Amino acid sequence: MGDHGYAAWLRYEQVTGDSMASYASWANEMVLPAGVPVDGVLKTAVQELSRGIRSMLGTAPTVEHEPSRQRFIVLGVLGGGSLIDAAAGDTAALSSEGYILKTVHERDRAYIVAAGKSDKAVLYAAFHLLRLMQSGSAIDQLHLMESPTYSLRMINHWDNMDGSVERGYSGRSIFYENNNVLSDSERIRDYARLMASVGINGIAINNVNVHREETYLITEKLLPDVARIAEVFGEYGIKLFLSVNYAGTIEIGGLDTADPLDPQVRTWWKEKAAEVYRYIPDFGGFLVKADSENRPGPFTYGRDHADGANMLAEALEPYGGLVLWRCFVYNCHQDWRDRSTDRARAAYDHFKPLDGRFKDNVILQIKNGPMDFQVREPVSPLFGAMEHTNQMMEFQIAQEYTGQQKDVCFLVPQWKEVLNFDTYVKGSGSTVKEIAAGHVHAYTHSGITAVSNIGNDENWTGHHLAQANLYGYGRLIWNPELSSEEIAGEWAVQTFGGNEKVRDILVNFLLESWSIYENYTAPLGVGWMVTPHYHYGPDIDGYEYSKWGTYHFADHKGIGVDRTVATGTGYSSQYMQANSQVYDSLEACPDELLLFFHHVPYTHELKSGKTVVQHIYDTHFAGVERVEYWIGRWQELEGLVGVDRFRHVAARLNKQLDNAMAWRDIVNTYFFRKSGIPDAHNRVIY
Ligand code: GCU
Repeated sequence: MGDHGYAAWLRYEQVTGDSMASYASWANEMVLPAGVPVDGVLKTAVQELSRGIRSMLGTAPTVEHEPSRQRFIVLGVLGGGSLIDAAAGDTAALSSEGYILKTVHERDRAYIVAAGKSDKAVLYAAFHLLRLMQSGSAIDQLHLMESPTYSLRMINHWDNMDGSVERGYSGRSIFYENNNVLSDSERIRDYARLMASVGINGIAINNVNVHREETYLITEKLLPDVARIAEVFGEYGIKLFLSVNYAGTIEIGGLDTADPLDPQVRTWWKEKAAEVYRYIPDFGGFLVKADSENRPGPFTYGRDHADGANMLAEALEPYGGLVLWRCFVYNCHQDWRDRSTDRARAAYDHFKPLDGRFKDNVILQIKNGPMDFQVREPVSPLFGAMEHTNQMMEFQIAQEYTGQQKDVCFLVPQWKEVLNFDTYVKGSGSTVKEIAAGHVHAYTHSGITAVSNIGNDENWTGHHLAQANLYGYGRLIWNPELSSEEIAGEWAVQTFGGNEKVRDILVNFLLESWSIYENYTAPLGVGWMVTPHYHYGPDIDGYEYSKWGTYHFADHKGIGVDRTVATGTGYSSQYMQANSQVYDSLEACPDELLLFFHHVPYTHELKSGKTVVQHIYDTHFAGVERVEYWIGRWQELEGLVGVDRFRHVAARLNKQLDNAMAWRDIVNTYFFRKSGIPDAHNRVIY
């Protein structure tokens, strides 16, 4: 059988050499405190550790209550066993999901303690230990204490019940087929393993655009099936969430309104919540896209989003359920002559005035940028701007606008830039990273979520290298201090083995890939030059002449969107002054966001010293050259990575090259002909 990447980063290949002997000395015996029932997530932890060890070392550990060897691993919840508690020391700083991994050396024996404050924490400790072993790291002197930075670490699926995946680039859904829920699928369990191994603790399993069939997911018709998925997730410490149709009362409830203040509507949702919790006692909550892109919402009834969200929150409150209310609300029917409406402004304009009106179990879910997951956008000014309203960040692992898993684009560096952005909402240091952790405002709930990039392709993510985004997302939101390089390195070694050359090429390619993609696509933060609706490949004026309000305003004189206060849409004023004055100023605005904030002539000189048009030419030629370069480097890996994966990646890289060349040629000729300004280096422009 070929190796098509199904195991992703949980390959657990046979360990050889010195590491083998060292690991085996510890991993022949696993000790669990007596008197503690081994079920639920704790049982999963034991099973996962055994499975990984058996695969890497050839034999599974024996499971004992009392140690019988001189070296062993102890697994368990803190407070439940003397070996664990003696080793743990002061664990006050550990969160309920945090754990310790510690090697204890006594006079006549030694052991590794993998323990935390909950079953889930023990599972995370087990996966961490396995990760160390898979990466060839020493485990003789462990002294680790880890707690996740974010309490909600989520994934959103945009899967539909017919089996299609909105913005899916990796095959069909793993959850549905032909309007059925695939509740008995082994694949869902394998998916839960992958997600738990990087610390994901919540997954919404259906598209935010809730169509007819999916509206029934919260009814007795489908809840038994959904409950089976929830059970599997539960074994891996993952809560299941569902996207709901805001107009459920009308669509399936037999009412003629979805007015959030209507008593009948409220009662219907309360009954629904009760029904859901009857089937799924640890259900996470509802994810809602309302009044957005033609979806129904409270605006129809003259109500606002606090009214809508609170109505659902009230229904979920008795069970501890959450409402994840999306802020992707904008008018998608715009008129290019009207310069006062600006899609970038919309989320802030709609939600900021509602600060303080949302119930405590509502969390506003905000896309990282004000537009829509472009290769480069400023950070959404709404993030952190509502002191009295829980918020969480929404990223997109699916590469909708960043190459659709045909092109390589490692997004961890992009996410890190967002997380490190200082909003100044409470003075310097009010970074997105800290806000999402609830450290800047006293949020009751907060965290990070992202749109999934998986499907039923054998390798989950279409492109093998897109697995790095899934892995990297989980690791980053566990610990945002990890560097992109560390994350890429961890992933590369676990997924492609310990060969140094393989690792170096993979890591360096991944680290450069975002900037390569940015180079050959839309320049200087302007975005949107993609084929409308499909979002892959160039179509410079595709959205310019549509109603979606995603303009670049390029003409023969210049390009860019004036979002300044003095002469533009005023979007820049939504930031705190320290940022707004930078963005508002033509001189201070960073090059990479220049065209997001300013309309400039092609001859405008950038900080880099180049003119805008020369920058466009240079980056587009460079982007293609770098893809060619990495194709060459990948060829060097023939024989060093498995033949199936080698060929698959090579084939995708050739597609990427076609795409990069198409972008280069179309963008360059467009701006050459619009501006009439030739390339300073006389390269061929079609
Ligand atoms: C983008 C995407 C849609 C999606 C929407 C959303 O516009 O193209 O497919 O439904 O975002 O986030 O709701």
